[in-house]
Amino acid sequence: MKTELPIPSSESALTLHRYPRRHNETLQAFDAADEYLIEHASTWALRAHARILIINDQFGALSCWASLQGFDVIQVSDSVISQQATIENLAQNDLVGITQLTSVDALPTDIDAVILRVPKSSKMLTWQLQQLAGITDEHTRVLAGAKAKEIHTSTLNQFEHWLGTTTTSLAKKKARLIFTTPTKQPAPPFDPVSDIDVPEFSMRLANWPNVFSAKKLDIAAYLMLQHIPSQTRFKRIVDLGCGNGVLALQAARNNPAAFIHAVDESHMAVASATHNLHRHGINTNRFQCEPRDCLTGFEHTDIDLVLCNPPFHQQQTITDHIAWQMFCDAKRVLTTNGELLVIGNRHLGYHTKLKRLFGNVTVVASNKKFVILKAVNA
Ligand SMILES: C[S@@+](CC[C@H](N)C(=O)[O-])C[C@H]1O[C@@H](n2cnc3c(N)ncnc32)[C@H](O)[C@@H]1O
Repeated sequence: MKTELPIPSSESALTLHRYPRRHNETLQAFDAADEYLIEHASTWALRAHARILIINDQFGALSCWASLQGFDVIQVSDSVISQQATIENLAQNDLVGITQLTSVDALPTDIDAVILRVPKSSKMLTWQLQQLAGITDEHTRVLAGAKAKEIHTSTLNQFEHWLGTTTTSLAKKKARLIFTTPTKQPAPPFDPVSDIDVPEFSMRLANWPNVFSAKKLDIAAYLMLQHIPSQTRFKRIVDLGCGNGVLALQAARNNPAAFIHAVDESHMAVASATHNLHRHGINTNRFQCEPRDCLTGFEHTDIDLVLCNPPFHQQQTITDHIAWQMFCDAKRVLTTNGELLVIGNRHLGYHTKLKRLFGNVTVVASNKKFVILKAVNA
């Protein structure tokens, strides 16, 4: 695994790691799209201390490069993990701090240049381009990039529609760049939040654009909804990887005396969950929704129930290490006899992992595709 990213036209290199740091890490903290973006941006003749906006940086490669150039760097990210990786990689390379904004903050003005990693969700791209239209003009350099296979004609059309004339580069190491000159008058702002209805559970769930399964309720979540327990002994419940808060909401309803913690590494998920718990009348003194990497820094050890529909990819990479971290963190915060309820695709093998960690596991429910497992903290 490469950790050194050479800086164009210089002898130096950045040392970059993924976050959280893992023993035997096999995945790089930067990819060909980052390299291509940096190579092109290095040809810009920007003023000293130019204000540069970096959107959707994955592990901080772009922000570290821009900081190394002495630019005034403003990073916008939906991901707590990306933000934390950036902080650690800046420190690792003795670089000065940057301004970090979340995906639900307003964009800053007076920007000289924008570097955007094209997000996976096309709704998220639409939202980010429409925000950019409001703060850029024909003098702002706008450069975007991604793996070539993630850039479609529809992607380019979105840039044309929201910003202006758009061209692309040749593919290089399977990455491609997008160049846009923002000449369009900003369109009237639209509401980025969309609703999905779950009539069987009397829910209308608001979703910011980057939220998991923002267009329709996840089928695993739907099965899990039917099996969320209700027990008077449950005083404190965690929804780990809460997304739009669907499980947190049902847990709050089924356990009216319990306090609910909803945690997600996506700022848009946290904003959506907060909105949804409010919207369905859950009293604000009964819940807290917060951005975290799993339960890092979460100090409670009195949790009676953890609900978890774990992710199986980080950025674009399929992985089960987050699920494993979630299970380990759940064990740390659970009371004796506290329960972890996990839903997963049958083939993911969570059964073996939970048995290894807790020494016990039972099947609560299953269908052809999913299984709900319970592990009790001994
Ligand atoms: C499969 S979705 C489940 C969402 C929701 N609970 C549901 O059932 O529809 C997994 C969620 O975990 C979140 N996630 C991914 N990595 C995480 C991490 N390291 N810490 C906290 N949440 C994470 C994702 O943002 C996503 O919202």
